Amino acid sequence: MIDRQIRIAPSILTADFGRLAEQVRAAESAGVDLMHLDVMDGHFVPPLSFGTEVMAAVKVATSLPVEMHLMVERPEEYFDSFAELGAGTQIFHFEAARRLDRCRDLISQVRALGCAPAIAISPETPVSAIAELLPEIEQVTVMTIRPGWGGQTLMKELLDKVTAIRQAADALGRPNFAIEIDGGVKPHNIGQCVAAGADVLVAGSAVFNEEQMPSEAVAQLRAGIGTRSE
Ligand code: DX5
Ligand code: ZN
Repeated sequence: MIDRQIRIAPSILTADFGRLAEQVRAAESAGVDLMHLDVMDGHFVPPLSFGTEVMAAVKVATSLPVEMHLMVERPEEYFDSFAELGAGTQIFHFEAARRLDRCRDLISQVRALGCAPAIAISPETPVSAIAELLPEIEQVTVMTIRPGWGGQTLMKELLDKVTAIRQAADALGRPNFAIEIDGGVKPHNIGQCVAAGADVLVAGSAVFNEEQMPSEAVAQLRAGIGTRSE
């Protein structure tokens, strides 16, 4: 068994935007591995979230890698500006691209900008829809909630998708292929996510909430990684 490095990627969606820089610095000091930024355009998903200004503010606050989760209909309109601001990975949705040829165009655009291309799949999309693209991308983001809102409950039945992608990546000889789980990751289920084959865990409300400091929240997530049941 491969001893994969498990990365925690806080989503700032539920952070206190009045103290964003402070919250991001607190997460970084707590030992998270990267920041996950959820961009929503009000079309692909109903809410509007934020764009380049917030991304720029996060980049100033941290030296950690920043990945962009683009819940937008036309991701190609945003790739350039996020790349210029220093995005590491740019994740677009299969449901926005819809066709394999369009996915391939988007993948090349992201690569040409020096960023890592990744594809997110919403709960209704089967792994088979993107299986052919696995050799061309660096990460799949498996949505375990309905995209658009933080604070929902992880749909456990979707963890099978993670396992299927891990098996496919292993069969391709890519043991370090990144598989991210986004939605509802908490200390009580993070161990199951990792056991299913995920190595990047997005945590929004589990890190930024009103009950805890990010330091305590991240320590609880790390502690949960080794546990396999609730
Ligand atoms: C929702 C976003 C997630 C979300 C995660 O569409 O993609 O990144 O903020 O939040 P939690 O961890 O609270 O489910
Ligand atoms: Zn996200």
